[in-house]
Amino acid sequence: MHLSDFKKVFFEKLSDFYPETEVQSFYFLLTQHYLGKTRLDLALEPKYELSEEQREQFQKALLRLKKYEPVQHILEETEFYGLRFKVSKEVLIPRPETEELVSWILEDLASEEKSIRILDIGSGSGCIPVSLAKNLNTAEVHSWDVSEEALKIAIFNAKINNVNVDFQLKDIMKTVDLEQQYDLIVSNPPYVRNLEKKEMHSNVLDHEPELALYVDDEDALIFYRKISELAAKNLKTGGSLYFEINQYLGKETLRLVQGFGFEAELKKDIFGNDRMLKAIRINGGEL
Ligand SMILES: C[S@@+](CC[C@H](N)C(=O)[O-])C[C@H]1O[C@@H](n2cnc3c(N)ncnc32)[C@H](O)[C@@H]1O
Repeated sequence: MHLSDFKKVFFEKLSDFYPETEVQSFYFLLTQHYLGKTRLDLALEPKYELSEEQREQFQKALLRLKKYEPVQHILEETEFYGLRFKVSKEVLIPRPETEELVSWILEDLASEEKSIRILDIGSGSGCIPVSLAKNLNTAEVHSWDVSEEALKIAIFNAKINNVNVDFQLKDIMKTVDLEQQYDLIVSNPPYVRNLEKKEMHSNVLDHEPELALYVDDEDALIFYRKISELAAKNLKTGGSLYFEINQYLGKETLRLVQGFGFEAELKKDIFGNDRMLKAIRINGGEL
């Protein structure tokens, strides 16, 4: 079968499920992954012939996409900050807004010369600590998660990207002290309220880990409160705390963090939503 014939079937079959631009992006991700061909290669080889095995791979992927399985689960990997990350049902698929958070941190640290100690809370796939470690040669990077399964994936991702990150199994909600002083603490904690579930697509609702995403409607900032409280004690004076935040709770999150004595600011993502927060510990002691 010619790839171009399969392409027609692929677009037709998925047209009732996804917008065309998304189908196009799936198609090129699959061709890159299964055939090692870029868009340009494909344009130059309009008569590319699929082997029986390749046709079966594409057919299986098509059926899974029709069940709204995320394409990253089908490929078992994704790209984040130019690096390759294994993903599975046990971890949140790294999001572009989290790349924006990593970019913000790295821009802020661009002129940093001393070696700094970083703690990431809620490792997931390890996308934040691994990309920070990869881009900050002298940093000492720690990352904690309550999920053993997530940590296995994060450790694997540190290995394939050739970086050292100290991953530990810890429940931040049960932590009373971070045990050492950090220059920088970062977290993308669970922040989606149940009331926001109706905005979400079934590829997220049915396929991504609840533990990574959801919080009670009544106390949506629970992780931000706990992490800010710990950071107020265990962040060095002048040290910084970075959060990815719920876009609908920017002002509330800002006030909460300021209440712990931090000088804080919000930052919008490329879509203009309040999505990130940076806080500097200005006081010398615990509140
Ligand atoms: C929103 S995900 C972020 C994952 C990853 N940092 C990213 O940006 O893709 C939140 C992570 O926090 C972890 N988590 C949830 N509750 C936790 C807790 N009490 N202590 C530590 N980690 C927790 C989840 O297992 C999940 O990996």
